Order: sequence, then C-alpha cells, then structure tokens
Amino acid sequence: MIIAIDGPAASGKGTIARRLAHKYGLHHLDTGLLYRAVAKAVLDAGFPPDDIGQAIAAAAALDPEKFDESALKTQQITEAASVVAAIPQVRAALMNYQRAFAQKPPGVVLDGRDIGTVIAPAAEVKLFVFASPQVRAKRRVAELKARGEEADEQAVLADLVRRDERDSRRAAAPLMPAPDAHLLDTTHLDIDAALRAAVAIIEAVRTGRKRG
Ligand code: DC
Repeated sequence: MIIAIDGPAASGKGTIARRLAHKYGLHHLDTGLLYRAVAKAVLDAGFPPDDIGQAIAAAAALDPEKFDESALKTQQITEAASVVAAIPQVRAALMNYQRAFAQKPPGVVLDGRDIGTVIAPAAEVKLFVFASPQVRAKRRVAELKARGEEADEQAVLADLVRRDERDSRRAAAPLMPAPDAHLLDTTHLDIDAALRAAVAIIEAVRTGRKRG
C-alpha cells in the first residue's frame, strides 16, 4: 500500500504521516528532508540556494541514509529548501530515490508537495492536508517556543505565506492536490482528531476497494 500525503507547511501532514506509518506498519519518508539536505549542502559550500549548478550537483551527490534531521530544520534551511525545490533538475535528481522507496514492502507513507501528483500518482490513498495560514502560523510558533526559540507570529505567518506561494507557483511539480486526493482540512482539528479523520478516509478507501 502507498499512502501519499501532500500539503503546505505546518498543515499537520508530517505528524499524520508518521502516525499512519506506525499504525499500519509502513515505512515513512518525509520527502521535504531531501530538499532540505540539498539546501544545506549548497549553503555549507558557501553558495546561495539559487545557484542552479551547485544545487543540481548537491542533489546528484545526496546520500539520504545519512541525514541529521535536527540540523535540517533551521529557519535558514527551511527558506533555502523552498528555493532549491523550484529547480526542475534538482527535483529530477531526487525522483528515483523517492520512487524506489515507494516500492518498499509492505508499503509506505510519503509526505511532501508532489507525492500524489508526480512521485506516486498510482498511490492507493492520497490525502491533501491543509489549514488556514493563521492556524498554521500559530502551530509553528508553538513548535518554535517548545524548542526554546523566539518566535513572532506575524513574521512566522509572513514566512509561511511566502514559502507556500513559491511552492505553489513554481512551474515544476507545484504544490497542489491531485485530482483524486481526499482533502483534509485540519484548521479546527487537533492532531488526534486529524489522525482519526485520516484513518477514516483510508478505511473508507480500503473498504470500497474490497467491495469493488
Ligand atoms: O515539508 P518541508 O517543509 O520540510 O519541505 C521543505 C521544502 O521542500 C518546501 O518548501 C517545499 C519543498 N518540497 C517539495 O518541493 N516537494 C516535496 N515533495 C517536499 C518538499
């Protein structure tokens, strides 16, 4: 089984993906980490994230087995990841790894921006998880504060909106729901309720398939 989960930043998709993988005994890949790792490699080498040649070389040289996840979550890398992710050759270089991962038995949960549309268009279940920008900004602020970091809600909101726009307007695999994705609005749901809603969708799809 392949479960494809897409959506904007701080929509809850990452936590939902992790918990679904645990519940169903599936492998999980947070595909955003791939773009973050490319961004980090470019920045560490002293280049700006829109240096296309450096970004393509970093994507080609990436070893996804060696990620230090916490080092990839800084604000600078978050912003730079969105920039390298708009480069078509970077996306192409990361495609094989994601598609091979998607074939792992007994199945996988992948979360990102283009999983249901480009990486795994044949996924059994596709979820598009979203929430209002204001609620997503509040969640991000709570996360940052929990890590002991300073956070200004208006600044966080402006960053989120700018990044969503870049991710949605780019020509290469933009953030958008697949035509057959199930939309899950988490604006008024806490994470447990969002997970229950995701499970309900998955169970409905599986039951429908058995009947069909
Ligand atoms: O999910 P995230 O915030 O860790 O993703 C970081 C950036 O990578 C985000 O701005 C968009 C990009 N991304 C992408 O373009 N396609 C994916 N499948 C996953 C992430």
